[in-house]
Amino acid sequence: MSDARAENRAFWENEELKLDQRVYEAMWPGGEAAVQRLAKLGKQPVRQLIQKLIDPGTEFYELSRLAGFGMHYPDVDDVPCGGIVTGIGKIYGNWTMIIANDSRVKAGTYFPITLKKHMRAQAIAERCGLNCVYIADSGGAFLPMQADVFPDDGHFGSMFYNMARMSAKGLKQITLSTGGNTAGGAYIVFMACQAVMIDKLAYSFLGGPPLVKAATGEVISAEDLGGARIHTQISGGADHFCRTQDEAIEKVREILSLEPPQKLHIHRYAESPPMVPVETIYEELPAKIHQGINVRAVIQAFADDSHFIEYKKNYAPGRGDNIVTGKIRLKGIPVGIIAANGLGIIFVEAARKATEWIVRCCQEKVPLLFIQSSPGYMVGSESEHMGIGKYGADMVRAVSCAQVPRIQLVIGPDNGAANYGMCGRAYRPHFLFATMRARTSVMSGRSAAEVLLSIEERKRAAEGKPMSDGEKQAFRLQMIEKYDGEAHPFFCGARLLNDRVLKFREIRDWLAMAFEVSLLKPIDDPAFGNLRF
Ligand code: COA
Repeated sequence: MSDARAENRAFWENEELKLDQRVYEAMWPGGEAAVQRLAKLGKQPVRQLIQKLIDPGTEFYELSRLAGFGMHYPDVDDVPCGGIVTGIGKIYGNWTMIIANDSRVKAGTYFPITLKKHMRAQAIAERCGLNCVYIADSGGAFLPMQADVFPDDGHFGSMFYNMARMSAKGLKQITLSTGGNTAGGAYIVFMACQAVMIDKLAYSFLGGPPLVKAATGEVISAEDLGGARIHTQISGGADHFCRTQDEAIEKVREILSLEPPQKLHIHRYAESPPMVPVETIYEELPAKIHQGINVRAVIQAFADDSHFIEYKKNYAPGRGDNIVTGKIRLKGIPVGIIAANGLGIIFVEAARKATEWIVRCCQEKVPLLFIQSSPGYMVGSESEHMGIGKYGADMVRAVSCAQVPRIQLVIGPDNGAANYGMCGRAYRPHFLFATMRARTSVMSGRSAAEVLLSIEERKRAAEGKPMSDGEKQAFRLQMIEKYDGEAHPFFCGARLLNDRVLKFREIRDWLAMAFEVSLLKPIDDPAFGNLRF
């Protein structure tokens, strides 16, 4: 192995250790003391419950684990994991969305990022046709931020709106209540298709005992106001009474045991492993983010048989191949590829090729994987006069209208309009995965520093206080730090700009799961509106 490849590998393995560390913080808020506190109440950590909920020996595909770090809310800097665990697992063979409050994080209350994460999980479930299980244990809205979590579309009420509409579409909404569900939060129990409550752990009421006392003078315990016994025997607001968390988990599994099996809306070929080892990705990808890449080698490290059937491989060398297109099988599922290559700058030829390929895959009803490592479209008069604007717009239109499942994987720069053309968040890919090499921002730190410096220089000159060389350099460094920091996968993951930051070795399993889940619904016919050509 060359020195450069060994250095790359060591670098990325170390970066992924940093990811492990951050994920550990997300998974164990409050450490052992918090686990002991739960145990005293007869409760298990939330991921332990989830592992029992899904089929034995299967994996829980947890989403958005970096959510909520560094948010700097009033008096709360970090909300580990956003205070809520979301992810996809199999129950009796069916992929199911699981949404579970983590009561170790501020009593599972909802911050803006908690809501965003809850809503994102519901959106995936609705789009892919997944049943939902809610493990409810929450103090409701994080009250100091009520104006930011209560009244708007996408705020607290939207959780229940989504439950109602999903159940109207035939998607089961099952709630296991294992803690407080007060005020608006009570609806997570009452809106469910079936709700399970646990004796002396679960409570659900529109007003808790203190509010009841203040409003009516009635003095009553939480248990007598809205405990499991009250709602399963008297009010009928919940359907199943259980004594322990384990019993409740078994009950939820039983409720979902007779769901019709899901089926895949594409022909699945026999699965075969890649011939190129996954370590290749670690060795191929340069530590420097703006250095060019050989994306074909990356694709070979996760495609079945390492086989990439390339489309228009020889077209416009040096320009057309800054995007490579083609098909692979991924655990037997055919997938169309649009992948940034080399420096990833999108020339007219690459944009045209990508648009053509998107349209072809849509006609064939083959799902699309966008592998993003592009700093933007080519600028300058030659490119403008050749029509980079309109061909870029065609690509964006094709991406927007593509009716097939689309997934984005970011393995490098992700800037400017290339974020649009390569199916960034605003283009609503079914799933969006980042890696530790992803850098998502409007421009790179270096470019942003120069643009902002030119503005600052003009301003300062007009004030009669021109910048010294030292001031210019300090300004540049400050801007580079800010922009590069905000592009980092930790920053983006904290804000849910991706669904998970994957390790390179997780790419194959995760993409296969995501395509499978995205193909549970039939694919519509294509329609693209007004392409320019
Ligand atoms: N808003 C903001 N912070 C809240 C909160 C809320 N709605 N509910 C709980 N918290 C905070 C507590 O202040 C505490 O913070 P701290 O760790 O910094 O001291 C932390 O969350 C844990 O709460 P605690 O009451 O100690 O946990 P618990 O397990 O004993 O009780 C509840 C959990 C949910 C039963 C209880 O906190 C409660 O009744 N909360 C209020 C519920 C409510 O009325 N919500 C209405 C909003 S819709």
